[in-house]
Amino acid sequence: MISAAQTKRFSAADGREPLVTVIVPTRNEAGNIAPLLERIGRSRTASSFEVLFVDDSDDATPERVAEYARDGDVPIRIVHRAAGERVGGLGGAVLTGLRVARGCWAVIMDGDLQHPPELAVPLAEVGISRGIDLVMATRRVGSGDASGLGSRSRRVVSQVSNRTAKLIFPRSLGPASDPMSGFFAVRIDALDLDELRPRGFKILMELLVRTPDLRIAEVPFTMAERNAGTSKASLTEGTTFLGNLLRLRFRGFTEHTGGGRRANVLVRGLLFGLVGLSGILVNTAVLWYFSIGHFEINYLVGAIIATEASTLWLFLLTETLVYHGDKPGSGLSRGARFFLINHIGLAIRLPLLALLVNVAGMAVLWANLVTLLVTFALRFFVTDSTVYGA
Ligand code: GDD
Ligand code: MN
Repeated sequence: MISAAQTKRFSAADGREPLVTVIVPTRNEAGNIAPLLERIGRSRTASSFEVLFVDDSDDATPERVAEYARDGDVPIRIVHRAAGERVGGLGGAVLTGLRVARGCWAVIMDGDLQHPPELAVPLAEVGISRGIDLVMATRRVGSGDASGLGSRSRRVVSQVSNRTAKLIFPRSLGPASDPMSGFFAVRIDALDLDELRPRGFKILMELLVRTPDLRIAEVPFTMAERNAGTSKASLTEGTTFLGNLLRLRFRGFTEHTGGGRRANVLVRGLLFGLVGLSGILVNTAVLWYFSIGHFEINYLVGAIIATEASTLWLFLLTETLVYHGDKPGSGLSRGARFFLINHIGLAIRLPLLALLVNVAGMAVLWANLVTLLVTFALRFFVTDSTVYGA
């Protein structure tokens, strides 16, 4: 884990030179390391910079990086993630890079030479000189060109996902011509790294959607063909992308807990309500069966039996549908508290039921329904905070 102190960036205000960190996520790019570093090195610009590889490789990529770090004159670091640590794939690697970067600006760039390495540091310099937060290298405006992306079908998929994403996020992605680009420069302190949950390829989209007020510029570039090795794009990446669109679109309906995220109180209340409706059906059916349909037991006793049945039903559905995922305490203790709350509700409902039937002359089933609705909000808020409180 990286401490907060390590992630603090120095800036020109500290009297030190701002440093650009070129973050290169790599997965099996051994054949591309030398030419990549060669070309970055040749592009020496005014700003000091370092190159940071975040590597998920099983091939000789780390060895190639180490060799070059020894022999070349470019400051190089590598974070290698072992097989079990490759959280988030490409996007997760970039987030790791943003956390350990020493620069106040980061440039994210592919390691296969599809992004012109000479443009990396200058991309950040555009942002620094204009005093903005993010510079996207775009293939879709001006002299930009996406032909290096590959086959015609890949270009069509890319174009369609670009349009779809912009349609779903008109505010944050609408103004960007190429939010699917993997090549951009960003001022790291403009981001809230703890808010980012990148998965797979589209890290720029994640940044733009989660940080909608960034000051942005675009610089056109021509995407070259891959140098050595093969693309890691896959069908799984495609489905991850669709999942990301949904996850980001509905992020407003979730909230932080100690250990992760869960649906917010509005969504929980809604689910609780839907589950509650099925509970009302169960309760009403059991009450009818015992007090009207078959046994003609006293309706107050019927209401008690009906509550036992519907509480069991509700508990099972609440456990699986409303609060899926991690829950506090043991199932048994949650069950005990859940039953206790419903019986407190019952203690309120029985006198109310008697009142409605005997004094107001309401039919038993309708009166029972009224008492269930009256205690619903109470049940939800008490259950939500005392049984499933995060
Ligand atoms: N660390 C790490 N982990 N790096 C990865 C992973 C991973 O799981 N998967 C891919 N990479 C690295 C590759 O080694 C390469 O340096 C870079 O990420 C891009 O991967 P490619 O496999 O070359 O992707 P692409 O060329 O098909 O896609 C590129 O263009 C897309 C735009 O159409 C990437 O830049 C995408 O991010 C971009 O969306
Ligand atoms: Mn590529």
